[in-house]
Amino acid sequence: MTIDPSLPAESPNLVKGHVCLVGAGPGDPELLTVKALKALENADAVLHDTLVPETVLALAHPNALKIAVGKRAGRSSAKQADINAELIRLARKGYFVVRLKSGDPAIFGRAGEELAACRDAGVAVSVIAGVTAATAAAASLGVSLTHRDHAQRLQFVTGHSRDGTLPLNLDWAGIADPHATTALYMGARTVEQFAREAIAAGLAPDTPAIAVENVSLKDEQIWQGTLATVGNLLKAASPEGPVIVLVGRAIKA
Ligand SMILES: C[S@@+](CC[C@H](N)C(=O)[O-])C[C@H]1O[C@@H](n2cnc3c(N)ncnc32)[C@H](O)[C@@H]1O
Repeated sequence: MTIDPSLPAESPNLVKGHVCLVGAGPGDPELLTVKALKALENADAVLHDTLVPETVLALAHPNALKIAVGKRAGRSSAKQADINAELIRLARKGYFVVRLKSGDPAIFGRAGEELAACRDAGVAVSVIAGVTAATAAAASLGVSLTHRDHAQRLQFVTGHSRDGTLPLNLDWAGIADPHATTALYMGARTVEQFAREAIAAGLAPDTPAIAVENVSLKDEQIWQGTLATVGNLLKAASPEGPVIVLVGRAIKA
């Protein structure tokens, strides 16, 4: 692969020998930011997650090296240390390296590890924000996550610990706050237990809960229920795509 010397380096996010963590959004290419699109168009190499669809990857520079490093539950994937090493190796070759992550890189996207690895190695690194799954789901549903009559707090929670189970150290009092909206990421397999714990902590079982699979894509699917029913709805459907679960009074307002 050769680097096109004519590529413009018009923004600090596009300079050579540099890693840029780019948010790809939830999947619809039209939800990329203009900055993300420019980064893709100027990339010498794109290291991308499994959740980033072909329609987004197709927007990268035609000569860009494309490397899949994605992680999906139950499937093997590159180790984080290997991804870090590859980012640094390519940047040291003088490439403009795009690390393309679904949604926003700073939300459950291991951006912290990659930023630290680049900085420790003395490699310049920057971040381009993306549309996260929770806000894209709210847009699809046509609701506000923070309707002021119903929610004074918005919390992003992971349903997936390092071993794939529900994390034990979640703040259940915060999750049981009736004036909060909770977005549960990576929780398709653990939402039943999540709901049990939330109800045990005091959140009403009839609190609205909506699961959305493949937000923003053609095959988007929505399951509308309550905290008490959403686990069973997902179990019966066993969706294969990524699922975000929104919980709280605001999403029904
Ligand atoms: C590793 S996290 C990455 C989150 C991502 N950085 C973001 O900001 O959306 C993966 C989880 O994000 C959620 N997710 C990402 N893309 C999604 C989509 N298109 N539809 C539904 N959920 C999505 C799911 O909960 C999925 O299990």
